[in-house]
Amino acid sequence: MKFLNSGKVKDIYEIDGDTILFKFSDRVSAYDVKFKQDIPQKGEVLCKFAEFWFEKLSVPNHFVRRESDNEIVVKKMKMLPIECVVRGYFYGSLVSRWKNGKVVVPDGTDTTLAAKLPHPIFDPSTKSEHDISIDKVKALEMNLVTDEQYNWLEKNSIEIYKKMAEIADGVGFILADLKLEFGILNGKITLGDSIGPDEYRLWLKDNYKIGKMQEAYDKQLLRDWLTVNGYQKQFDDARNVGQEPIAPEIPKEIISKMTERYIIAYEKLAGKTL
Ligand SMILES: Nc1ncnc2c1ncn2[C@@H]1O[C@H](COP(=O)(O)OP(=O)(O)OP(=O)(O)O)[C@@H](O)[C@H]1O
Ligand SMILES: [Mg+2]
Repeated sequence: MKFLNSGKVKDIYEIDGDTILFKFSDRVSAYDVKFKQDIPQKGEVLCKFAEFWFEKLSVPNHFVRRESDNEIVVKKMKMLPIECVVRGYFYGSLVSRWKNGKVVVPDGTDTTLAAKLPHPIFDPSTKSEHDISIDKVKALEMNLVTDEQYNWLEKNSIEIYKKMAEIADGVGFILADLKLEFGILNGKITLGDSIGPDEYRLWLKDNYKIGKMQEAYDKQLLRDWLTVNGYQKQFDDARNVGQEPIAPEIPKEIISKMTERYIIAYEKLAGKTL
């Protein structure tokens, strides 16, 4: 097998001309800082989530089979250079872009932080190192996709979001937003990449409060610990003087609680044990 690429979380290998292998690691990052320690079973959860969603969603996708606890085999595709982001809530980069007048929100949008949008919106970005948000005009101008492809991606991404949000809602979670990637397989647009906690924000319904920052269910423990101990500020300070932030050692109990949360999220959403 030929090694192709190593992302923040997965390592990618070429099996043959038609298929590639995604190996999900236990690596974790927060506030764009990579930690030295692993979160046991995180890779397994991400892997089984990918299997679950690809089987659950009725849209054509690249999934072939799960190879092991942390590997899946997928069909090799030519990826479309656009990240298909769907947002159901007024949150994340949408808020700052709206404040800067860079994006319009649907009529009737409540612009309180974390308010539910009147309807889910398609809010794509480029697939470059630092994702730049784009709209249809820009996507066509940049020749990323055709007019017809854009319309297909918009419609289908929103449909996928709605279906996933409904499943999440049924088990006590809010699916705030979602990022999908598509490619071309045998001439048809096909859902690719991975779908799991790294591709969406999941909030616990019981903790949801409009007007405040919401914590992602799986990352909450780590981020809280970093914030309480002043590391978030240290990271910002380091970056402000052009230095790479240094990752602190995560306490063992935080690590084991994170593993637990990843597993709980999987077991609730997938409706089966890991
Ligand atoms: N079926 C496929 N065929 C070919 N390439 C694919 C397929 N599915 C996904 N990809 C591409 O493989 C790459 C996956 O990389 P990965 O997500 O691990 O890291 P990354 O995108 O480089 O960085 P990050 O960790 O920030 O996501 C992406 O460029 C994605 O578009
Ligand atoms: Mg990626």
